[in-house]
Amino acid sequence: MDFTGNGRTTDILWDKYSLIIRGQRVFIHSGEFHTFRLPVPGLWLDILQKVKAAGFNAISVYSHMALINPSPGVVDFNDYRALEPLYEAAKQTGIWIVLRPGPYINAETTAGGIAHWITSEVAGEMRTNTTDWHAAWQDYVQGIITETAPYQVTQGGPVIDNEYSQAPATHAEYFRELEAVYLNSSIVVPLTANDPGEGWAWINGTGAVNIYGMDSYPQGFDCSNPDVWSPVITDYHSYHETVDPGQPWYFPEFQGGSFDAWGPTAPGYDQCRMLTGVDFENVFNLHLWASNAKLINYYMLYGGTSWGALPFPGVYTSYDYGSAIAENRELTVKYPELKRQGLFLRSSPDFYKTDWVGNSTGGMVSVSNPAAFVTLLRNPDSAASFYIARQRNSTTTDVTIFKLNVTTSAGNLEVPRFTSGITLGGRQSKIIVTDYPFGSSSKVLYSTAQVLFAGQIGGRDVLFLYGDPTYESEVALTLSGAPRIQGAELSSVSSNGVTTVTFLSGIQGLITIWDSSEQLVLYSDTNTAGTFWSPEIPTNDSVEFANYWQFGTNSSILVGGPYLVRNATISGSTLALRGDLNDSVQLTVIAPDDVKTVTWNGIPISADVTAVLNLTAQGGFVAQLKPSSMVLGFAPPALTNWRYADSLPEIRTGFSDANWTLANHTTTNIPFKPYYGDGRVLYGCDYEYCENIVLWRGHFNATENTQSVNFSINGGEAFAATVWVNDVFLNTSYGNSTNNQNILEETDDKFYFPPESLFYERENIITILQDNMGLNESGSVIDEEKSPRGVRGFMLNTGDFGEWKVQGKVGGYTNYLDKVRGVLNEGGLYGERMGWHLPGFDTSSWALRDLSEGLPNAAAGVGFFVTTFNLSIPDGFDVPMSFMFDDTSQPYRSQLYVNGWMMGKRVSNLGPQYKFPVQQGILDYNGTNTVAIALWAMEPKAVSPTLQLAIEGVYEGGVGGIETNNPPWSPEGRSYV
Ligand code: GAL
Repeated sequence: MDFTGNGRTTDILWDKYSLIIRGQRVFIHSGEFHTFRLPVPGLWLDILQKVKAAGFNAISVYSHMALINPSPGVVDFNDYRALEPLYEAAKQTGIWIVLRPGPYINAETTAGGIAHWITSEVAGEMRTNTTDWHAAWQDYVQGIITETAPYQVTQGGPVIDNEYSQAPATHAEYFRELEAVYLNSSIVVPLTANDPGEGWAWINGTGAVNIYGMDSYPQGFDCSNPDVWSPVITDYHSYHETVDPGQPWYFPEFQGGSFDAWGPTAPGYDQCRMLTGVDFENVFNLHLWASNAKLINYYMLYGGTSWGALPFPGVYTSYDYGSAIAENRELTVKYPELKRQGLFLRSSPDFYKTDWVGNSTGGMVSVSNPAAFVTLLRNPDSAASFYIARQRNSTTTDVTIFKLNVTTSAGNLEVPRFTSGITLGGRQSKIIVTDYPFGSSSKVLYSTAQVLFAGQIGGRDVLFLYGDPTYESEVALTLSGAPRIQGAELSSVSSNGVTTVTFLSGIQGLITIWDSSEQLVLYSDTNTAGTFWSPEIPTNDSVEFANYWQFGTNSSILVGGPYLVRNATISGSTLALRGDLNDSVQLTVIAPDDVKTVTWNGIPISADVTAVLNLTAQGGFVAQLKPSSMVLGFAPPALTNWRYADSLPEIRTGFSDANWTLANHTTTNIPFKPYYGDGRVLYGCDYEYCENIVLWRGHFNATENTQSVNFSINGGEAFAATVWVNDVFLNTSYGNSTNNQNILEETDDKFYFPPESLFYERENIITILQDNMGLNESGSVIDEEKSPRGVRGFMLNTGDFGEWKVQGKVGGYTNYLDKVRGVLNEGGLYGERMGWHLPGFDTSSWALRDLSEGLPNAAAGVGFFVTTFNLSIPDGFDVPMSFMFDDTSQPYRSQLYVNGWMMGKRVSNLGPQYKFPVQQGILDYNGTNTVAIALWAMEPKAVSPTLQLAIEGVYEGGVGGIETNNPPWSPEGRSYV
């Protein structure tokens, strides 16, 4: 065979069709998952099992440099920064991994993932071949190599690829240098990159990668009008043919949802899930297949949470992304369609090698109705053919009915032959297969019904078709053996050994078409098909790649009904199913005939013997599955008994900032220089305070003429900064975003000193409390990630400032205290510096004050509210929970800490997010939990925030064994102010 490789391993090769892993042709069917957005390693298995259960075989993973390399010389793969537990979970699940370590990842994260210290310490242009940038990424990349090398596919591990970055095309030399580090290491798997759009980048020339990849987000990132579609992009295939026809067509990212921005008009993730919903998945994913792509990754499949300082300023805490798997790990309405697609691909090895023959524009495919557009892909070896149909106008909601001319082993046919036509019900796509093999020796001549599953179960060839209950479809296939059941709802004609079965409209539920000792053919409506699972039956665990489809096993079963089937094993005559239930369901199983007993999560279940007879005469099993009554029994505890303490001693007379950092730099590597002042640079990151809230104190002497002060403050889109002189509130300066419109990332304001606010006989202090919404991603301006968060201009109307002092998180980026939660968790609020957000801090001496009472005296300021609550949720339940603020617009911002983790930033005056999912593992499901709210009232006005814990669902099952890792408060390092 004529395969290409990178010359470093033969375990991963490719040709123009697809990847060849260890000699086998593989369609990479993948979803994006960022472990750093789910900082509970025990839950990664949950996501991987859900990816696998959708029939997928891979995930794509960014790693986050800012977390892993928090300070110069420090590489930290502990706790949720680790890769090893992910690699182990992938092996256990049978999932390949495409690792995309950056250093630059974009990903709607702060500085696009670049370590924050670099944005201040590196003078040269980042992501170029300058020497200080080159030195800056070495430790991180070496760390990635060390962690990953033992898990490459060549070593029996899951990692098949590395994408290091997308970058401006002018920076090829840097790419070459980055590649050289991998090429000089024990990493032998191919290297690839993500070209954001049809940019022709990294195909040839300096820095070119082994396999080119391109991303595409046809609906963009504004979900405000979820019914209004942009059309499909029609040149994917021709672009590929132009730029890299000798390589498999790789989409390292294809739109699987959308991020969402700050602001009152931001639509929220429910609308993103509609914009990229089932019809979008159906039309756009299949359109991608029609371009002959054979490596596809949907971004995101599970979005997760941009907790702490993870977000870049364009997104809020939730990174749900409107994905198929929601932020709280629940399966959404989008999931079943992905699963139907995933099982089809897993069932259709002939699809992994196809020639793009043509479409109904070029005359290679002929359709009876020009409103239908059909692309033909054909396997050159078997002649199995795939006609992928969509509406010519891909956004139309019209119904289009057409007939299609197909070429088959039985000659040219116009299909369907007995029903009226193939129906595209609005925004819908269909695949019409011809000469499609299933099982060991069976074949479909053609089918206008969709294939959910094709394979062998217990020696029988099994085919599971589905279709819309309102439209007709038909299948022609070769049937053998003596049938035991034939559905009454259908009609069939046989001639020349081929049976054509027509499905009239109105079919609901599962029906058996053919049930012989050689073949089983099933049909259902589309929704019923979506309730089916096909867990793989792994071989002996000692086999390498035991859990990988095609490698360790080719056998699977069908299981209909449960909310989720995580896995299945057969030992002797017992089939053991594991999964999750939230409701009573009918369980329908098609398994090998020698299975006599079925267990669900370890408990034997009894079969409904009559129902089985309607299904099949062999290997069938039907039963009622019922979750335990406990599923209804959980009520969320009320959050009461709040304790309160003021968190802004900085504005009180006598507060000493003697231990704060003197802000006296007069130079900076940040290319965006101060606008005005006296030459001093007041950028937080230049003093190691690169994220979250930072406080500035400017000392000055006043005279009768001192009336005002000007500040230009930079905090990033949607930030705010509140300014006091002595203990007198001056004003709040508001950044802005209304759904990424009217973006204001820095302000320039004059603050007037009210009468009697100044001292003339002694020093005055200006206190600026400012938020940092994250560092920008790379953009059109060079080094935009080096965002000048801080005070870009300061000027009294008369006179000069004396000392400027600055304080962010304790220890800055070199000596920050919380090594478990990491460098992005804390900020510089007094309460954070004292560790009030951490579990175990003793608040018994604090005043009792309800959160809804806001700050005393309706003052502008910052206070901490802390309370605890208990949870007692037994093992064996997955109970997603959220913290819900009031959904009102009030002039407050707040940070939500759960057991010390900053799990939410609520900006009440902007929105949209008021509900913050928090995972088990952050929450202790069997113990006491601490919740702390840092409340920042931005105006001298009463605010009344409320907070509730909400239970979002109760699933009996779950992945189990979730550990908590919430180090408690300790006085160490926290005594200074
Ligand atoms: C891509 C980028 C991703 C992410 C995505 C939008 O171009 O590679 O990191 O930012 O856009 O969500």
